Amino acid sequence: MKILGIESSCDETAAAVVEDGRRVLSNIVASQIDEHRLYGGVVPEIASRRHIESISQVVKEAMDGAGLGFSDIDAVAVTYAPGLIGALLVGLSYAKGLSLSAGLPLVGVHHVAGHIAANYITHPDLEPPFLCLVISGGNSHIVSVESYTSYMVIGRTRDDAAGECFDKVARTIGFPYPGGKYIDGAAENGDRTAFRFTHPKISGEGYDMSFSGLKTAVINLVRNAEQRGEELSREDVAASFQKTVADILGETFGRAAKDLRSKKLVVAGGVSANTEIRRKMKALADSLGAKLWLPELRYCGDNAAMIAAQGYYDFLAGRRADMSLNAAATMSLEEISI
Ligand code: KG4
Repeated sequence: MKILGIESSCDETAAAVVEDGRRVLSNIVASQIDEHRLYGGVVPEIASRRHIESISQVVKEAMDGAGLGFSDIDAVAVTYAPGLIGALLVGLSYAKGLSLSAGLPLVGVHHVAGHIAANYITHPDLEPPFLCLVISGGNSHIVSVESYTSYMVIGRTRDDAAGECFDKVARTIGFPYPGGKYIDGAAENGDRTAFRFTHPKISGEGYDMSFSGLKTAVINLVRNAEQRGEELSREDVAASFQKTVADILGETFGRAAKDLRSKKLVVAGGVSANTEIRRKMKALADSLGAKLWLPELRYCGDNAAMIAAQGYYDFLAGRRADMSLNAAATMSLEEISI
């Protein structure tokens, strides 16, 4: 079964064709990042306009890349939530038009479910149930993935997402947006013990996380040094910060894995590209005698192959959308569980 996936929830216009949820026949991503970088972050209005300009061409390239016509496609899967509302609406409206004109079933896909499904592409052996740490620019969740279409969110950030924290710290030490990968690069040459940042204290039981205190601590460190006329090594700041994020994620995810006795651990989302976090998760899985699955680097960030992969499983579960499907800026995974 061949699914055409369409993704436009933030600043990437993407289309892909995936067979049986696992085999990628084409995967096109048009990034707008160079333009948003001028403003230090994604400008929603610009994002919507650029999606409108590129979507037809991106879908055409995905179809040409797969060597297929619309009559070879079984369904169109499109991200409809969560994300920037104007950006989502472009992909969704395009997918609706395509569904009507080509007579194809339409499947609405949750963006975070898509990130989790990126692992199905990389790992043909991976099947639910498993425990998943989803870390991206907009989300940080610990999710018990019960089946291909059913989720229980057992932990979440109480404030900033992990990626948001990376991007703000990166900006403070002078890296362009989005700064996660620059922190990752700089940290390779830094001393991770140069600065000590305290871990957040989260009230209550459970597996919630918090990153805004850490972000403020790094900003204060840098600003205070500037006021004293001292120069800090940004490699050292990057390495110490990154180690703290990895420790917080490792501690929380590790505790959840132990409590739930989960031996199948999965990481997903843009921040799962991070070298230190990947190392930390491997060490964590080894210490628990668990198996770890990480997405290939090209499927960590936003793409449409992951939407087509999840769309396949949603389709098999009977999920169909009609022309009344609307986009939503926020939506929990539990709301869409079947
Ligand atoms: O998953 P994604 O593409 O977008 C959302 O769905 O939110 O994630 C983007 C985030 C950005 O915050 C970016 O800085 C971060 O992923 N990121 C990284 C790395 N590569 C991308 N963060 C840390 N280390 C990286 N190597």
